[in-house]
Order: sequence, then C-alpha cells, then structure tokens
Amino acid sequence: MKQSYWNKVVILGATSDMAVAFSHLLAKKNISQILIGRNKEKLEAIAKDLQIRYQIKVDTILFDVEKDSPEQIIKKIPDSIDMFACFIGYLGDQKKAQTDSNEAQRIIKINYTMPAIFTEMMIEKIKQSSSKKRTIIGISSVAGDRGRQSNYFYGSAKAAYSTYLSGLRNRLFKEKIHVLTVKPGFVYTSMTENLNLPPLLTAKPEEVAKDIFKAAMKEKNVIYTKWFWKYIMLIIKYLPEFIFKRLSL
Ligand SMILES: NC(=O)c1ccc[n+]([C@@H]2O[C@H](COP(=O)([O-])OP(=O)(O)OC[C@H]3O[C@@H](n4cnc5c(N)ncnc54)[C@H](OP(=O)(O)O)[C@@H]3O)[C@@H](O)[C@H]2O)c1
Repeated sequence: MKQSYWNKVVILGATSDMAVAFSHLLAKKNISQILIGRNKEKLEAIAKDLQIRYQIKVDTILFDVEKDSPEQIIKKIPDSIDMFACFIGYLGDQKKAQTDSNEAQRIIKINYTMPAIFTEMMIEKIKQSSSKKRTIIGISSVAGDRGRQSNYFYGSAKAAYSTYLSGLRNRLFKEKIHVLTVKPGFVYTSMTENLNLPPLLTAKPEEVAKDIFKAAMKEKNVIYTKWFWKYIMLIIKYLPEFIFKRLSL
C-alpha cells in the first residue's frame, strides 16, 4: 500500500534553525530522518531530542561542505529516499568578499555550488523510492530576486540556486518528483542574529517550517515566506534600473 506522507527524509544543513523546526514537524508525523551537518555535537543533540520526544528513527552524517567530498558522503545515504531538503546557507561578509576571493568563493560554494551538486547526487536515490510523494526542497532567498550592493555575492548565489531548482523542476515533472523552491524574507535565526531586523517583516523559524511543510504537501512550485514577500519583491524587481541603481539597498 502506498503511504500518504514521506517515510524517509534526508536534510542537509540539519542544524539550521529553520531545519530544526522543520524536523519537528516531520517527526510529529512519525517520519524518520537522516540529518546531515558539520557540527557533531549540535547534530547529535538535535537527533537525540527528536528520538526521545517522538520515538522516531534519526540517523546523523557529518559533512562540512567546504572540506569533505560529496561523493564520499552520498555513499553513506541509503538508496531509497522520499524527500531531500537542503537548508545550508552562509550570508558571508559582502565587503570582505569584494577584495578577498576566498570569502567570495565560500559564499558561492555554500549557497550555490554544493546545494546544486549534492541535490543532483540525491536524484537517483529519490527515483528509487516507491512513495506516493517524492519531493526535493531547496531553501533559496528573496535576496536572489534582485542584486543589491549590500549582499550581491550571497544574492547572486541564491539566484543561481533558484534557477537550478527551476530547471530541475522542469526536468523531474514527468517523473512525478516534485521540486519546491522556498524564498524566505527575514527570519530570526543564527544567520541573522547580529542584524537589526524589522519585527513586522520578520518570521520565526517555526512559521517558515510550517509554510514549507504545507507547500510540500500541496506540491507548490515556489513560495515566499512570510507570504507578503512575494509582493515586496514584485515591487523591488520591477523598479526601473535607472532608479534602482541610485538606491542604497
Ligand atoms: N535567516 C534568514 O533571514 C534567511 C533569509 C532567507 C534565506 N535564508 C536561508 O535559509 C537557510 C537556512 O538558514 P538559517 O536562517 O536557518 O540559518 P542558520 O541557522 O545559520 O543555518 C545555516 C545552515 O548552514 C550550515 N552550514 C554553513 N556552512 C556550512 C558548511 N561549510 N558545511 C556544512 N553546513 C554548513 C550551518 O551549519 P552550522 O550549524 O554548523 O553552522 C547551518 O546548518 C539558508 O539557506 C539561508 O541562506 C535565511
């Protein structure tokens, strides 16, 4: 008999505050998970908490996307997977990246190159699943919708990632594998803890996780979270360049 939910989920960037909130939602539905991250202590603490609270199977795999080979990591993941969700990200230091090519490369690698390469490697494992729902989720950003002087290395990496996910959705549609692109606006997480975010525009990780879960269930293609970012970005995207280039954004 086919199940109505996913059975086995792999999460890359599982220590992200958004990913942890998402893991809890999956665990409440009794969905077992393989959590991938680079911080052993944090990863094991999250796994233990999920196992104790929800009595589900949780495995962990260590992976530092800057140091380890994805080919070695992929071998540790079982063959049949129903959902792959990628939460890794690095805001980086835009000013530093303008003069330090290592920082620029780091931003591009963590936000685009590795998410795309690792997702591509996961496709065969998802194809092997017989689940009714087979899903790939990529966390991009509203920052990818238009380049701004304050974060254009991060923004352009996220734009590339959104484009990758769009192509993948097109490729996998006929195989009934659903690809969801998530574009969060501001979210209170460790990535933004040093920023002064406007409370009215900023989401909690739990709110974002709920939006992602709902969108995956309904097989949405692209979502903005919170929802109103779709309209904020519409205005930003369509501002004429001769005005946009004069703004300090
Ligand atoms: N917060 C926002 O306002 C916001 C807005 C739009 C989009 N996003 C996107 O949302 C996603 C989740 O981010 P978050 O806000 O939840 O921030 P976060 O808590 O800082 O999560 C970032 C994740 O990326 C992982 N990571 C960074 N460098 C890595 C590396 N070299 N190897 C392996 N893992 C690495 C982090 O691992 P460690 O825990 O080990 O550091 C962490 O799991 C990211 O893709 C981010 O770009 C965030």
